[in-house]
Amino acid sequence: MRIAFFDSGIGGITVLHQAMRLLPDEDYLFYADTLHVPYGEKRKEEVRKYVFDAAEFIANQDVKALVVACNTATSIAVEDLRQKYPFPILGIEPAVKPAVIESEKRRKKVLVLATKLTLKEEKYHHLVARIDKHDIVDSLPLPGLVQFAEHFEFNEEKVARYLSEQLDSFDTSEYGTVVLGCTHFPYFKDTIKKLFPHDTAVIDGGPGTARNLQRVLEARHLVNQTAQEGTVSFYQSGTKVESEETLRRYRNLLNRLDELQTLA
Ligand code: DGL
Repeated sequence: MRIAFFDSGIGGITVLHQAMRLLPDEDYLFYADTLHVPYGEKRKEEVRKYVFDAAEFIANQDVKALVVACNTATSIAVEDLRQKYPFPILGIEPAVKPAVIESEKRRKKVLVLATKLTLKEEKYHHLVARIDKHDIVDSLPLPGLVQFAEHFEFNEEKVARYLSEQLDSFDTSEYGTVVLGCTHFPYFKDTIKKLFPHDTAVIDGGPGTARNLQRVLEARHLVNQTAQEGTVSFYQSGTKVESEETLRRYRNLLNRLDELQTLA
């Protein structure tokens, strides 16, 4: 049985990549809702419908767990999905807690980068209200980064220009931690890092989600016991990806993330 990863687009591959490092023997199914990306700019009800449609398709694919590798989808649907399906369902949310702990020690602030919808949602506001006792958390939506990633545009100059514009009204030296609260953003981690002081930490929830997945699979005795090299199949909005060109692009992203990881 496979482990499914779901996102509006290619962002979830950043989380899948973390899981593959921890659990290399598993078979994975990656589902990108490419027909409806970006979620972050849409209305909550519309996104809910897309997420439930995708989950229904995934539930019919013989999967043993589902990772909602999208902060936006997690914030609006993960609890309801858990009510509906019998297999374990994990989500991802902006890593605000470790960021606040780290920044408080250094008397610095936290900047959460995410989608508009994630930042608007109750789940995010509750999270911040619970953790941010000294009012040090700021936030900024960055829809442009989702667009760049979906167009496989990782050109540093273009991305840096966009980010500089968006950060224009922020004093970047105030931030001890930047949280990548959208799974599309880790592709741009290096470019983001360069816009902040060298000791500003840039973190995301991907590694934590992968560790959670491992814990859950172990606790339920769902870890694959046969020593085999794991496989990944890709789906786009309900259709299996067969095009060699598209498969190559996805695999290149996994390699690109390997390189980023080695550099970090
Ligand atoms: N990758 C998604 C997230 O983590 C959403 C991007 C989008 O579709 O706007 O929030």
